[in-house]
Amino acid sequence: MTSTWSLRTDAPDRTQLAAEELGRLLTGGDVVGLVGGLGTGKTCFTQGLARGLDVDPESYVRSPTFALVNSHRGRVDLHHVDLYRLSDPEESVFMGYEDLFDGQAVVAIEWFDRFEDLWPASYLELTFEASEGDDRRITARAQGARPARILERWREAWEGEVGARR
Ligand SMILES: Nc1ncnc2c1ncn2[C@@H]1O[C@H](COP(=O)(O)OP(=O)(O)OP(=O)(O)O)[C@@H](O)[C@H]1O
Ligand SMILES: [Mg+2]
Repeated sequence: MTSTWSLRTDAPDRTQLAAEELGRLLTGGDVVGLVGGLGTGKTCFTQGLARGLDVDPESYVRSPTFALVNSHRGRVDLHHVDLYRLSDPEESVFMGYEDLFDGQAVVAIEWFDRFEDLWPASYLELTFEASEGDDRRITARAQGARPARILERWREAWEGEVGARR
């Protein structure tokens, strides 16, 4: 089951609000794959996701590029992975990649499209595109039945938010 939807945001805090709304819908075992060029908003989005998971703001979500994975305690824990510097999928054993998918935490993965070998069976993939200025388009694709349901609920929540802003 695959479904897609895209949303637009015109500022970093709008991106984070959309992410926070998604985060509220997530529970342990859910995977969010983040795709898009440098500076398109993947880390910005993950900060909002952390808010929606009630991660302590003290545990600030940085781009984990050098650590490969940063874990944060929340209502549900969040593992924030960045595959940018991984040169071979086999190196993922050194960050305990498999263990991140034990169903206890949400896993957000920047540069998710780098290695197909590292994709779980079901996930929500978000592709970020920057256009003029601060405008971003985020295209969501659900792979699997639960991600498709989450996507549907997220879309309803965001369309309510956009409607209320008008
Ligand atoms: N609508 C927007 N949504 C998200 N970020 C935006 C938006 N408009 C401007 N920005 C800016 O774009 C930058 C996004 O940076 P961010 O670190 O999130 O990118 P990234 O995709 O994680 O990049 P990298 O691949 O280097 O990790 C930030 O400086 C942010 O302020
Ligand atoms: Mg980043």
